[in-house]
Amino acid sequence: MKSRILPVVFCAFLLSVFSLNLFAQNTFKPQKELLSTIKKNIKDADNQYKFLAQQIGPQEFPKTYHPDTKKQENSNSDWWCSGFYPGSLLYLYEQDHDQQLLTEANRILGVLAKEQFNTHTHDLGFMMYCSFGNANRIEPNPEYKQILINSAKSLSTRFNPTVGCIKSWDSKNPSDYLVIIDNMMNLELLFWATHETGDSSYYKIAVTHANTTMKNHFRPDYSSYHVINYDAQTGAVKEKKTAQGFANESAWARGQAWGLYGYTVMYRETKDKKYLEQAQNIARFILTNPNLPADKIPYWDYNANNIPNALKDASAAAIAASALLELCRYADNNKGQEYFTTAETILKTLSSPAYKAPARTNGGFILEHSVGHLPGGTEVNVPLTYADYYFIEAMKRYQAFGVKN
Ligand code: GLY
Repeated sequence: MKSRILPVVFCAFLLSVFSLNLFAQNTFKPQKELLSTIKKNIKDADNQYKFLAQQIGPQEFPKTYHPDTKKQENSNSDWWCSGFYPGSLLYLYEQDHDQQLLTEANRILGVLAKEQFNTHTHDLGFMMYCSFGNANRIEPNPEYKQILINSAKSLSTRFNPTVGCIKSWDSKNPSDYLVIIDNMMNLELLFWATHETGDSSYYKIAVTHANTTMKNHFRPDYSSYHVINYDAQTGAVKEKKTAQGFANESAWARGQAWGLYGYTVMYRETKDKKYLEQAQNIARFILTNPNLPADKIPYWDYNANNIPNALKDASAAAIAASALLELCRYADNNKGQEYFTTAETILKTLSSPAYKAPARTNGGFILEHSVGHLPGGTEVNVPLTYADYYFIEAMKRYQAFGVKN
């Protein structure tokens, strides 16, 4: 008797796990109206990025546009944002198969390729994975793979096992070891490198960095410091501070979004529940913050001193929307629904004339009103390439909920 019941119970158990898993994977129904807004946004973005392509020199990458002086600002390939322009072109190409966008993406990838050997920056994940990672995902190619592997190697040279982190910024003081929360975004490249090569050292660096960051960057409320200065020799924490936020003890909005996205990727890549919990705790800090406006576009810092008159940061909102549209797939249904609905609100707000620029304005960027480095007085209330990139990514992720699988 026992032996007949057991297989039935086991099958029922497997069935329920399977259906729960499917449930957790995709229960959220996208709104028809928002899907058509997204379709229009993508068409508009195709045209806007063709216009943006006309604003840069042959070796240049778009950086921002200053609406007050009507001046375009471009960068070289070694700027941390150089991967977002090719990445956005590729995401857009994937949607509409417009050859002009692919041609421009391929051209600019050729200019970017040399950065695979750059060991002076921790931003290689942003630069190379958002660009070549997407190119290789769309059309796998041995040349792209080699560039990505070389980039992962270059990034790994900045890892110090005593500190347990990849160094973000070089410092004149040799005992300083500066690590910023943004660095969580560079780990996805390392996971890719381990999948591709079978060399687990990249994976181990990513996990160690994430664990050290979880230990030292976060406050009890799961907001994060921007910068931790470790002792390069001992790994001891010397300082917890900010560079781009309002104050050392404040919660810089984009930093919170980087953390949310970073730990969501950590869970995806390792399936370790502690990262899921971390991502959900960060989400709770953001979504329950009394200073988060109803339109879900955060002020540039959750503790800025002039809220509600503080500037808002579209880039932090776009990054958070994209992260939430992944996290909602892993969360239980109630929390997942909250993440999904919040992302919807962000997408609607960013699609509105309050943020989305009219055609052939805004220097060719899609979104207005991001804050790069307010204390430094640079890129304040301007378009930014990463706001556009994560906006397009979030729209793509939202569309995926409408696809039957
Ligand atoms: N350092 C990257 C950022 O501004 O978010």
